[in-house]
Amino acid sequence: MGQLVQAAKITHVPSIWMSHTMEQYKGIRQFAIDGYMKLRDDAIARDVDTFVVLDTHWITNQGFHLNAKDHHKGRFISHELPHMLSDLEFDYPGDADLADSILTALHDRGERALGHAMPDMGMEYATLLPMHFINEGLGKRVLPIAVNQFSSIEENRRWGEAIAEGIRKSGRRVALYASGSFSHDFTPNERSVDGLNSVNGEFNRQMDLRVLDLWKQGKWVEFLDLLPDYAKKCTGECAMNDTAMLFGALGWKDYGGTIDIYTDYFGSSGTGQANISLSVPA
Ligand SMILES: [Fe+2]
Repeated sequence: MGQLVQAAKITHVPSIWMSHTMEQYKGIRQFAIDGYMKLRDDAIARDVDTFVVLDTHWITNQGFHLNAKDHHKGRFISHELPHMLSDLEFDYPGDADLADSILTALHDRGERALGHAMPDMGMEYATLLPMHFINEGLGKRVLPIAVNQFSSIEENRRWGEAIAEGIRKSGRRVALYASGSFSHDFTPNERSVDGLNSVNGEFNRQMDLRVLDLWKQGKWVEFLDLLPDYAKKCTGECAMNDTAMLFGALGWKDYGGTIDIYTDYFGSSGTGQANISLSVPA
């Protein structure tokens, strides 16, 4: 039997890469890298076989898609922010077997779900950036899952539930990461340079902080009730559907877990970010 052994809501902002690789920005996101290292330590301690990443930069418009390649290898540049993130080399085993198990669970539920293993299927940086730190030298399997920008919170709840079933029916010990922002309203271009370390708008900042308070207090039902409005009013990254899938996998309103904050809330180019570890149901 497989098992979900780690769950987290994580950041992937390109300023982490700037912090890591550019002399003039050295260290500006060290706290985010330190948070990745805590996730890495947990992944090692829990003997994770596969990192499944709900990737809000693999944005799809129809159906449910996952990357079922046996091997991921390449060199990445962000087309959105090429000045911030380039020359990111990657080389990870994939997990076609776990992909099959998740697809079976989805098909059994009548969902339109597809796996892709074409040679040209690449990877996006919401997977690659965290993996560069968390999976560095570990050689663990990586399975990216796309996030559908036009799907509903309810569909993502169901898809998350099916992902959890697919994991249980596989032989894998799995880390499941929702790689996406809290509020996600980019600082307007004319002010973008000044917005490098801030959240765009006090409304969004206060909403993010309130959501984190709900998480700290374990008020999961309240959080899930406000998620659809939160996603709309705070310009959720890919509609916050990564978060909905994560909580679907964790049991939705039956979830009774606790959090550990591995990177405190911070602003980046207008968006609200953090690394939060969520306890997994036994
Ligand atoms: Fe992003």
